[in-house]
Amino acid sequence: MTTERTERIGIIMNGVTGRMGTNQHLVRSILAIRDQGGVELDDGTRLMPDPILTGRNAEKLKALAEKYGVEKYSTDLDAVLADDSYQVFFDASGTPYRVAFLEKAIAAGKHIYCEKPTAVDPAEAYRIADVAEAAGVKNGTVQDKLWLPGIQAFLKLREEGFFGEILSVRGEFGYWVFSGHDENQAAQRPSWNYRDEDGGGIIIDMHCHWRYVIDHLFGEITEVFTHAATHLPERIGEDGKPYVCTADDAAYALFKTRTGVICQFNSSWDVRVRRDDLLTMQVDGTKGSAIVGLRKCWAQSLENTPRPVWNPDVDSPIDYYANWDVVDPGSCDNAFKIQWEIFLKHVARDEEFPWSLREGAKGVDLAAKSWESHRSGSWVKI
Ligand SMILES: NC(=O)c1ccc[n+]([C@@H]2O[C@H](COP(=O)([O-])OP(=O)(O)OC[C@H]3O[C@@H](n4cnc5c(N)ncnc54)[C@H](O)[C@@H]3O)[C@@H](O)[C@H]2O)c1
Repeated sequence: MTTERTERIGIIMNGVTGRMGTNQHLVRSILAIRDQGGVELDDGTRLMPDPILTGRNAEKLKALAEKYGVEKYSTDLDAVLADDSYQVFFDASGTPYRVAFLEKAIAAGKHIYCEKPTAVDPAEAYRIADVAEAAGVKNGTVQDKLWLPGIQAFLKLREEGFFGEILSVRGEFGYWVFSGHDENQAAQRPSWNYRDEDGGGIIIDMHCHWRYVIDHLFGEITEVFTHAATHLPERIGEDGKPYVCTADDAAYALFKTRTGVICQFNSSWDVRVRRDDLLTMQVDGTKGSAIVGLRKCWAQSLENTPRPVWNPDVDSPIDYYANWDVVDPGSCDNAFKIQWEIFLKHVARDEEFPWSLREGAKGVDLAAKSWESHRSGSWVKI
């Protein structure tokens, strides 16, 4: 028989006044876990997160804490790190600051969880993984896409052998990010994303994701070919003034994998969307294909595959959107929350958590090798 008891887990949440920190990590993960009565462990214990918000701006922290009913916040990170009642340090601050924060927290003996990318430079990303491992602290990084309903549905199909042999994947990611120049159309993403010196750029942002998505779904990446572009040279910043875009805002990439599956991913902040979702991956196999979106997945089996005849002189007699079945992923929670729950169980009970800082470093490495490919105009081995 199990007895219900609650075990507190103290979490320092750093840099969570930003977009990801507030929406995905504080509200939809940690507070949602608190509201549901904690994370249930195998022995019936409820693991209850107790967050403290840290950052530079006391006013912003206070407003955020009050809005969501979080009791504690502080601008004195060193003092909070010295408090033994907090076991976990989480960071969602800007990418260029990540490693320094993690290093401080590791030195204070905290277990580490953080947003991606773990660093901008692969040497730093691997070094911080080494530092965490040498200190013996548990560590992990966000690889949220793995728990999206669309991807869960794909994994189900793959498990069932639906695809036969998977041949190729075509990923399309992106949407139009307004530059801020157009009337009544403010820019909808923070300006640092378009400045290299602030850790911006679509390659460092998205190729980190494509690394673990491709490795996990289709086969470990062995080679990359990338062309990067900065299509819009100027955008308007938060201060209303124009700035020069020093980072890439589109990347056209090919990835070879150990399994032989060829993956082609376009990532762009300069595309308008006429597809099923902001990310879609078309997976083609000998026995069936799927369109994998963020929340939905559509599949077409060999039996349902149409037999088109090339004739541009007449409208197509075939509706190419017909004959695709929606695949049920089963019940799915918020992807960030699911990964948080697994991480908290890892900290409290040593349950498995393979998405470590070392795994995260592979994504940073892919981004660097993508740049190497762009500059040399050639394939680069991973
Ligand atoms: N997993 C994903 O899908 C995903 C999506 C978007 C962004 N991200 C990552 O999340 C991180 C944050 O991105 P965002 O879009 O939320 O950006 P943002 O600009 O909205 O937020 C950044 C936050 O960091 C804080 N910050 C900046 N410098 C700091 C410092 N020196 N000390 C303390 N706090 C500091 C800012 O005040 C802000 O709260 C980035 O590393 C980004 O790559 C991940």
